[in-house]
Amino acid sequence: MDGGPEVRLVADAAALADAAAQAIVDAAVESVAERGRFSIVLAGGATPRATYMRLAVPPLAERLPWDRTWVFFGDERCVPPDHAESNYHMAYEALLSKVPIPGERVFRLRGEAEDPEAAATDYARTLAGAFATPRGGLPRFDLVLLGMGLDGHTASLFPGSPALKEVFRPVVAVHAAAAVLPQRLTLTFPPINAAARIIFLVSGAEKAKAVKAMLRDGVALPAAMVRPLDGTLTWIVDRAAASLLPPDRLAHSPR
Ligand code: 6PG
Repeated sequence: MDGGPEVRLVADAAALADAAAQAIVDAAVESVAERGRFSIVLAGGATPRATYMRLAVPPLAERLPWDRTWVFFGDERCVPPDHAESNYHMAYEALLSKVPIPGERVFRLRGEAEDPEAAATDYARTLAGAFATPRGGLPRFDLVLLGMGLDGHTASLFPGSPALKEVFRPVVAVHAAAAVLPQRLTLTFPPINAAARIIFLVSGAEKAKAVKAMLRDGVALPAAMVRPLDGTLTWIVDRAAASLLPPDRLAHSPR
């Protein structure tokens, strides 16, 4: 590849979930072998749900070292954790309630907080504690999962948001007027870009224009600002989402 992200083309949403789940297990096994633990940031929205469901059942559920895994979230809607639109709720129902991960190793963003700014600050403290980060330092997640919206947003970093320019705070509260649930908590780019591995999961024809704008036309959408400092960046896209990309932009043909 030309130094840009690896783009892995898969046939459809089911193949994307298979590829993503396997990539997560591979990253987990490698991280635990190298450092004794695996820290993953889960993405919200609908796309990752099928991936999480595959991790919750054999064979992958038995391969992932849950007792060494630490789970974080990239963003959260400001709703209670049992709300249908909560990213934590989706991950809990699809995965976390079904695998033997110690509860104290699941670090959710407190979307229910009365004061979202305070919740953002609390989560930043949580990250600093979990990674023993020196003051002003950044956590180094082993893997960050991300989705992308039709407008090219990722996590809850939306076009035009002041959060796109945040360079100091690792977690902020945002008001995304265009979003279904506008009040959100989100990681900012610095902790995302400090990760060892970043994987985008993008599926569906409705994403094709944003994928083309991003990966072919170089349009500076928020998702384009995900550029790992020294980690790897992989886009796993299905054929429908990649339908406007030229063939030379795809690293793997669908299996
Ligand atoms: C959220 C997500 C968001 C999501 C994209 C894609 O809270 O909504 O963090 O960034 O990944 O909007 O969502 P879909 O997977 O539902 O298309």
